[in-house]
Amino acid sequence: MRPDEPGTPLIVSGHVLDGHGQPLAGAKLDIYHAADNGNYSGLYDDGVPKRNLRGHLFTGPDDRYTFTTITPVAYADPNVTAVDGVIEAVAALGRSLCRPAHIHYEVHNADLITPWRGEIYF
Ligand SMILES: [Fe+2]
Repeated sequence: MRPDEPGTPLIVSGHVLDGHGQPLAGAKLDIYHAADNGNYSGLYDDGVPKRNLRGHLFTGPDDRYTFTTITPVAYADPNVTAVDGVIEAVAALGRSLCRPAHIHYEVHNADLITPWRGEIYF
């Protein structure tokens, strides 16, 4: 992230286990999330560096990791909101177009059959 990244500072820590509950030391974590304005870097010509709030790290020998970032916010997908009638239909149903704030993870490790991809929600 940029040194002056807008948003609420956040320290994230955790540990990574395989499907059998065993620690995954040395697993590569690809991590990315939306900025404080709900945008992802690299999608808009807005002057934000393309790799902002994106990165990777490796779990330590004890399967643990920690990184510092800013707290992502909920956002509405502009590809969805651009569809005629969607905003009105969602409002009529009393629902929200926003996805809750979340961080995307991909876990890569030779011991996994395939990389794990998912999100961690707040
Ligand atoms: Fe997302």
